[in-house]
Amino acid sequence: IKNEKLQFPICVYLKGGKYTALSMQCTHQGCELNPNKTSLVCPCHGSEFSTEGKVQSAPADKDLKQFKVITDNENIYIEQ
Ligand code: FES
Repeated sequence: IKNEKLQFPICVYLKGGKYTALSMQCTHQGCELNPNKTSLVCPCHGSEFSTEGKVQSAPADKDLKQFKVITDNENIYIEQ
């Protein structure tokens, strides 16, 4: 998801009926992550994050910024 107010896109995963919305900005030095089905990988220095935003591989040592997600029958709302 892209939003003109955000410098980096948000990646939304759905796992076990629960949505997770993650900033795609690497917490190491700020490169944009490449998302895939099971993780988000940084092209700059190789950090890897789980689809829950947790650090899996260094050099990053902080989890990804997460956004609150609210859903109703038709929509998904992502709060900043
Ligand atoms: Fe992502 Fe360095 S900026 S690993």
